[in-house]
Parts: sequence; structure tokens; C-alpha cells
Amino acid sequence: MSIRRSIVRGVGGYLPARVMTNQELASKVDTSDEWIVQRTGIHERRIAAAGETTSDLGLAAARAALADAGMSADAVDLIVLATSTPDQTFPASAVTIQAKLGITRGAAFDLQAVCSGFVFGLATADRFLVAGDFKCALVIGAETFSRILDWNDRSTCVLFGDGAGAIVLEAAEQPGQRTDRGVLTTHLRSDGRYRSKLYVDGGPSSTGTIGHLRMEGREVFRHAVGMITDVVEDAFKATGYGAKDIDWFVPHQANKRIIDGSAHKLGIAPEKVVSTVDRHGNTSAASIPLALADACADRRIKPGHLVLLEAMGGGFTWASALIRW
Ligand code: ACO
Repeated sequence: MSIRRSIVRGVGGYLPARVMTNQELASKVDTSDEWIVQRTGIHERRIAAAGETTSDLGLAAARAALADAGMSADAVDLIVLATSTPDQTFPASAVTIQAKLGITRGAAFDLQAVCSGFVFGLATADRFLVAGDFKCALVIGAETFSRILDWNDRSTCVLFGDGAGAIVLEAAEQPGQRTDRGVLTTHLRSDGRYRSKLYVDGGPSSTGTIGHLRMEGREVFRHAVGMITDVVEDAFKATGYGAKDIDWFVPHQANKRIIDGSAHKLGIAPEKVVSTVDRHGNTSAASIPLALADACADRRIKPGHLVLLEAMGGGFTWASALIRW
């Protein structure tokens, strides 16, 4: 019996032009290239230009994804933008992207699940497409974390960067078999008891300010690998696939040690791991679609491949998705 699935038609990424190296950071705060590389695997990150907003980054990534799909913006009737750094408190930055793409039908909204936002957004768009509410979705992760960092706090400012990535999803009938293309399963989790481990100390309804990112790094690290492997095991249980079946593992790019630890615990071979954290730093909701764009551009990920996504971040939130490309 045929089944409706969300098929990935295109992927795109966008990085601001300005590169900030570890050496540059070491000239501003008491840190070193050696410390940052050893603890995180990060060598450099991108920083948005003055006046360059999250929606600008997201728009560029969306255009790249549509070009990759060979589709025009007219086809899109849903935009889900995952971000924790919107242009304004409201309206949603997604509607700015919608307007700049010249789309006047369907719906566009922002979704906030911090570093897990892209997988939460993917799951949300997938449900709408499979239910038949919409036909074609742009799922975008875009962030300007440089605007919420405390640039005097060496324990956080070395970790993050700016960027955006996007995918085009289109609803299509599939045979309902093991070889089906599209989003096969998604699993979302959160536990607000951990909300003080990673947060921004401002907001419209509390301080009336934007605030700065605050993190208990060791606590995040302590929970990350366990939460990631749990939610990936859920994806394996739901589909009957296992680590040996995965062609590409595309994790949230927070830290090389978390990525390596998760892959090792799951039994996924290092050569199947897509990693961009060395060049991008942690771009929160943008990190997974940016990594996908990287691995599609150089043709590592090809149609038919089984691609596993996972993320974990503030909230805590954590999530996984399994996609047949
Ligand atoms: N440069 C030099 N020294 C530093 C720096 C820095 N940038 N930052 C902290 N230190 C110092 C600390 O002050 C401390 O010094 P002390 O021993 O004299 O007090 C020492 O280094 C050790 O600090 P820890 O915080 O214990 O260092 P740790 O080995 O845990 O590494 C890190 C810190 C990299 C943040 C690690 O905890 C980590 O990776 N945590 C995960 C956090 C993460 O990836 N968050 C991303 C957001 S969440 C997500 O996306 C999943």
C-alpha cells in the first residue's frame, strides 16, 4: 500500500564571509588555539556582518536549497524556521524570508528548540506534509549567536558561530516499503528540569533585554552523549534499522568530543560521520543543515543513502531523524 512521505528535494547552506580564528579570539580573551582545539575541535567560525540578520542568512540558505532542488519559490507553501536568534521578538523571521521569496500563500513560522531546532522543525514540517495540509516545505535553521554571546566569557564565546542551512521537502507517494525515500521517523524529547544548564539571561517578558548565553559546560557534556544515543536508539527501534545500515551520521555540531563519543557509543564508524565543527563552530539550529549542505555539495550523500540526524541543546531538548535520501 502506498504511503505519503516527505522527500528531500534540495539542500543549501550560507555562511557569513567573516572568519574568526582561534588566534583572533586568543587576542581578545584569555584562551589559546591549543585549548579550544583540544576541548572542542573548533579551529574557526563565521561571524555575521553588522546589519546582517538571521533572516538574511536564512534567506540565502533557502535560495541555495531551492536552486539545488531546481524548484522556484512558487512551489513552497510552508516555511519552518528554527532559530533562537530571530531578527525581532515578532513577527517571526520566517515571514520576512517568506516575503523576500515573494511567497504570499501557505504559512511561515519560527520554531524554538535551540540546538535541536532543525530536527524539531523537520519533524513538524514532515507531519504537515504527510497529513496533506501542505505540499512543499522549506525547513531552515538560521542563527546569529554572535549577537547573544558574552564576548568577555571565554567559557562560551569560543564555542559558537553564525550561519544558516535549509532543505526543501516535498510530499510524494512512496510504495510503503523498506526502500522508501523520505523522512522515515523522527523522535523529539525535552526535559525542562535542565533549563538552567544552558540559557540566555534575558528576554522580552523577564528583563526586557536580549541577554547573553550562559552555560554549565560540564553539565551539558555530562548529559549529551547519553541523551543522543537514547533518542537514536528510538529511531532504530521504530524502523528496524541499526548502526550498520547508516550511510551517513550527521550530528548537531556542538563539539568534536560529543560527536566522536556519540558515534562510538552507537557503533557508527568514524568515516560515516559528517563533521563541520572545525570550520563552523556550533551554529545551533543551523549546524545540521549546514553539515548536510556540505556533504551533499561534495556528493558524499547521494539519493538512496540512509542518513541519521541527531541534536541536543538548551532546554534540554534532544531529537533524532532517519531519512532515506
Ligand atoms: N580557554 C582556556 N581555558 C578555559 C576556557 C577557554 N576558552 N574556557 C574555560 N577554561 C578553563 C576554565 O576556567 C577551567 O579553569 P580552572 O580549572 O582553572 O577553573 C578549565 O578551563 C576547565 O574548565 P571546564 O569548563 O571544566 O572545561 P571542560 O574540559 O569541561 O571543557 C567545554 C569546557 C569545552 C565547554 C566542555 O565542557 C564542553 O564541551 N561542554 C559541552 C558544551 C557544549 O558543547 N555546548 C554547546 C551548546 S549545547 C549543545 O549544542 C549540545
